[in-house]
Amino acid sequence: MRFHLLLPAALAASIERPLTLGAQLQSTAVSGSSQVGVISFENVGFDGFYHQVESFSNIDKDSCLCSLLDERTHYNGTNAPLNEELSVHFRGPLKLHSFGYYVSSDYAQGQNGGEWTRKAHYDAASQTADNVTFLVNGGDESKCLGKALTYADADGVHTASLPQVLQKDNLIESDAEYIIYSNVLCGASGSGKDCGVYRPGIPAFHGFYGAVKMFLFEFEMPTGNGTLKQFYKYDMPAIWLLNAQIARTSEYLANALCLCWNSGCGEFDVFEVMNATETNHLYLTIHDYQGTGDINEGIMAYAHFPRARNGTMKGGVVFDLKSNAIVFLLDKVSVDGTVQGSLVNLWILDAGKQAQESLLSVTMGTALALALSTKSHLKKSGSDAVRATGLVALVSWLFSALLWV
Ligand SMILES: *[C@@H]1O[C@H](CO)[C@@H](O)[C@H](O)[C@H]1NC(C)=O
Ligand SMILES: *[C@@H]1O[C@H](CO)[C@@H](O)[C@H](O)[C@H]1NC(C)=O
Ligand SMILES: *[C@@H]1O[C@H](CO)[C@@H](O)[C@H](O)[C@H]1NC(C)=O
Ligand SMILES: *[C@@H]1O[C@H](CO)[C@@H](O)[C@H](O)[C@H]1NC(C)=O
Ligand SMILES: *[C@@H]1O[C@H](CO)[C@@H](O)[C@H](O)[C@H]1NC(C)=O
Repeated sequence: MRFHLLLPAALAASIERPLTLGAQLQSTAVSGSSQVGVISFENVGFDGFYHQVESFSNIDKDSCLCSLLDERTHYNGTNAPLNEELSVHFRGPLKLHSFGYYVSSDYAQGQNGGEWTRKAHYDAASQTADNVTFLVNGGDESKCLGKALTYADADGVHTASLPQVLQKDNLIESDAEYIIYSNVLCGASGSGKDCGVYRPGIPAFHGFYGAVKMFLFEFEMPTGNGTLKQFYKYDMPAIWLLNAQIARTSEYLANALCLCWNSGCGEFDVFEVMNATETNHLYLTIHDYQGTGDINEGIMAYAHFPRARNGTMKGGVVFDLKSNAIVFLLDKVSVDGTVQGSLVNLWILDAGKQAQESLLSVTMGTALALALSTKSHLKKSGSDAVRATGLVALVSWLFSALLWV
């Protein structure tokens, strides 16, 4: 999804000038990838750490610099680091009909019981916007941070000086992007504060918390107008989740010292067109270090969803209590105020063919132990593609892990 070069934080910290390189994501051949209605990752979450942004200086000047905290931010447990607060990102061509964010104390896929409570909601038709703030990267340009976050205008493209509700007819074109945060304002910027360090002057909001959480969407991804040459990402719509700290510092410049992404604070691509030659397929990718050293490539599910170009798609992503992350597309999905766990189970069953991948059981600090027992860490149920990726990536992962320690 994003284009950053992999740079272990310890190494990055020794480089004194801002990096301006943008490593392009390599497209992996995925011929033979099957079309499904449900894609799930099991064993999501591991014991690891990343580095938060510590400070910025001269953000309006050529001498703009960022630094990361030497101190590690540790995470562990169910769905980590995606158990942290996330922001929700959209790229056109896309039209959003509705969005819901839910939490549950006890939902586990396939088990009876559990209930989801909606904590944020957008509905285009009724112009409902509860606990959502629409932002765009449209503000002041900085040499090391890119454009600042600002409120989005009702069209989801332009900027506004106050929060706006995304309008009913909110179709955005290729390349256009907006972000949804909650409406809970961050406290002051600073290490150890509720939102960590964020860029001065931005509207800074909390992301959506929860180890066990669910996002539902009703959306369209129609064919883009224009041509390949007119856009950076022509006709490549996407919906994805980022650790909420990322866009509050710098989402789009490949400066590893200005955001926590490169050191692995987490991204989950839910429905993403990966390249201009495969625009009818939506892929799912996790970008963290759970068994890969290549944060750019990440861990992509081998299967894909079909992109419906005409009409509305409905679906969601669930992070459950048992470390499963399940993404599904199904017309029956409805963004209601309360959703029973049993209904989500039915949706997942009804969505059709399922593809399942298993993430590796790794610990960021035990690189050497891992090297000695590589085989046992590769789960049998993962697809060949993921297992092969795991093996190749393990080597570079070990390198980065060793550089860190
Ligand atoms: C991207 O494009 C290449 C061809 O250029 C293709 O082989 C590959 O399967 C495509 N899809 C993805 C998901 O990378
Ligand atoms: C796991 O993370 C939590 C914070 O999220 C921390 O309080 C706890 O000490 C960590 N546990 C381990 C074993 O690292
Ligand atoms: C809005 O979302 C935030 C972030 O997840 C959450 O902390 C807050 O409780 C939500 N507000 C309401 C009224 O549910
Ligand atoms: C393309 O342009 C037509 C005509 O202006 C418009 O109706 C349609 O909504 C546009 N589609 C997209 C994806 O922007
Ligand atoms: C979708 O709409 C386009 C034109 O609007 C049409 O050419 C195409 O056949 C439609 N596809 C489907 C699957 O209905």
